Amino acid sequence: MPNNRPNTKILLDGGDPEESKTIRKLLGFLDGQTTNPTYVSKNPEVQQRIASGHRFSPDEQKDEYRKIVQQISPLVGDAGVSIEVFADFDTKAEQMLEQGEEMFSWIPNAYIKYPCLHEGLRAAQISVERGIRVNMTLCFSQEQAAAVHAATKGARDPVYVSPFVGRLDDRGDNGMDVVRNIKRMYAQGDGHVHVLAASLRRLNHLLYAFALGAELATAPAKLLQEWASHDLVQPGPEFKYEPVVDGKRLGEIPYKNLKLTDSWESFDIHHELTDKGIRKFVEDYRSTLQTAA
Ligand code: E4P
Repeated sequence: MPNNRPNTKILLDGGDPEESKTIRKLLGFLDGQTTNPTYVSKNPEVQQRIASGHRFSPDEQKDEYRKIVQQISPLVGDAGVSIEVFADFDTKAEQMLEQGEEMFSWIPNAYIKYPCLHEGLRAAQISVERGIRVNMTLCFSQEQAAAVHAATKGARDPVYVSPFVGRLDDRGDNGMDVVRNIKRMYAQGDGHVHVLAASLRRLNHLLYAFALGAELATAPAKLLQEWASHDLVQPGPEFKYEPVVDGKRLGEIPYKNLKLTDSWESFDIHHELTDKGIRKFVEDYRSTLQTAA
C-alpha cells in the first residue's frame, strides 16, 4: 500500500472487472469504482456476446450488470461501487427507486446512481430515508449540486454528487469551475454530500481535484495509468490549474450565491448536458438489447 495516497479517494471509471484488478495492482489500492450504461455495454464479455449475434433481454442485461458489479465489489475499498439505474425522461422516481432498491441488494458496498433530474432527486430523497446510498450523476451545475444537498438532508451515509468535468470542457466551458464552485458552496453546508469529480480526461483534472479537496475522483484506467507513470504525484497548495485545451482557454463558470437551506425544488436544475447525457445512456443501454435496430 503506498504511503502517499491522496486525501481524495480514487475510483476507477469503467465496467470491466479485469481492468479493476489491473489498476488496483498498479496503484496498490483502489477506493472504489463507478459504472454506467456506456461502460456496461462496452464490457468485453458483453461485447463478445454481441459480436456473436446475441442480443440481451432486459432481464439478461440486468443479470450481466449484476455479475459485473459482483466481481468488482470485493476489489475496491470503502468508496464502493456505483451502479446506475435506467432512466429516460419518462421514468418516474418510483421506477428508479424500484431498480435502486434491487441494485442496492446486489453487493454490500453499492451506491445507486440517479440522474440530476427532478425525478432522480425525488428518488434520491426517498432512497436516503430508506438507507440506500446514492451517487447523483450527470451533474453539470452548482444549482443541481445545491438541490442534491437540500434533497438528501439527514442522510445516514455520505451522499455523492458527480460533476462531469470533461463534458463541460468539450463545449468550451471550464468544467473544473463547477467542482470548485460546489466545494465553495458546500463549505456552508453540513458536509453530508461528498464531491466526486467525474468525467476526468486529463492528468491536470485529477491533480486539480486533489488541490480543490474533492472527496473523491473517478477516472478511466488510461488516466490512472498516466498518474501512476508520474509516481502518483500529488500537487501542493502552489498547484495552478490552466483551463486551456488545444491552445484554447475555457470559459469561466462564475460562482453563484445559492442558499443550501432553500427547498430543493426551488433550484433551477435544468441543464442541457444532463439531457444529452440521459439520451446517450439510453442509447447505450438499448444498443445491447433485443429490441435494438
Ligand atoms: C461517472 O460516474 C461517469 O461514469 C463518468 O465519469 C462519465 O465520463 P465521460 O464523460 O468520459 O463519459
